Amino acid sequence: MGRKLLVFGGSGFIGGKIVQKALESWDVLIASRSGGRIPAGVNWHRADISDKGDVTGLFETLKPDACVNAAALSQIDRAEEDKDLAWKINVEGAENVAECCGTFGSRQIYFSSDAVYDGSADIYKESDMPDPVNYYGKTKAAAEKAVLSLDPEAVVVRISLVLGFPVTDVPSFYTNLRDKLKKPGELYFPVDEYRTPVDVLTLSECVVELIDKDFRGVLHIGSTDHANRYELAGLIAEMMGFDKDRVGILNPDREGQKKAPRHKNGIIDVSKARALLDTPLLSVDEGVRRTF
Ligand SMILES: NC(=O)c1ccc[n+]([C@@H]2O[C@H](COP(=O)([O-])OP(=O)(O)OC[C@H]3O[C@@H](n4cnc5c(N)ncnc54)[C@H](OP(=O)(O)O)[C@@H]3O)[C@@H](O)[C@H]2O)c1
Repeated sequence: MGRKLLVFGGSGFIGGKIVQKALESWDVLIASRSGGRIPAGVNWHRADISDKGDVTGLFETLKPDACVNAAALSQIDRAEEDKDLAWKINVEGAENVAECCGTFGSRQIYFSSDAVYDGSADIYKESDMPDPVNYYGKTKAAAEKAVLSLDPEAVVVRISLVLGFPVTDVPSFYTNLRDKLKKPGELYFPVDEYRTPVDVLTLSECVVELIDKDFRGVLHIGSTDHANRYELAGLIAEMMGFDKDRVGILNPDREGQKKAPRHKNGIIDVSKARALLDTPLLSVDEGVRRTF
């Protein structure tokens, strides 16, 4: 029996890719609420992270050497609509996992987001103070604090937008874009929302490497440059074989259709990760190309 890695949210977009990558060097176990989208050959355990008994029971039984917490209510508008559920999963769930990691001595990687920033600065360093503009960001900022206080050895990975196709049957920015492009009509994306995207394979390689690194605290992982959502959608549409001109610039008046406000500049400084990790971080263009 090799070393055990427990991935909360291993059936999700990012968790699924981490599971696939980690299988090369770990005995991988997945925990999530529903077991329908689990890669073949991986042990799945039903657990709701917001249920302390579920999480503690899992740690007592499995005694994982390391744990990735990629489980969350990850849709920004849904979190705004159902704040109680978002808090329960994103904050109380993260606390339950972090407390067990601290108690059982499991190396922990927790996923946070650039949505903890208010988006008014030109670029953000890990040491910049969170000041989120939406409820999802608030839950992530609160969870980060709790995770590092309950498990000071943990790594909090702040990511911006993750690029790529899921391993399992879950939505991602790519699949949502592709599904919309298959229907007639134009699509509109904001030209003033900048992101520092990372492709899901590079992210997974970074995370698997990080587990064995002597590092704790907050770490940004993203591309070496940035792009706005309009530029990104156009580039990805073209790579998918669609006409790039079907992607237009969102008129700011239409932004009222979104339930939750979005931060403008999600430009994160990734120099710390570049110095720490052997896995090379890519430019936006290289990252998009890597996913095809
Ligand atoms: N994708 C991005 O661009 C992006 C950007 C910034 C930050 N993030 C963060 O990165 C992490 C992973 O995101 P993702 O895009 O992979 O999310 P996702 O595709 O929505 O996957 C979420 C996973 O969490 C599980 N989950 C949800 N609620 C749960 C609960 N109460 N108990 C146990 N498991 C639960 C889901 O499975 P079940 O529903 O079956 O339980 C699923 O496996 C999240 O923390 C997200 O906030 C993502």
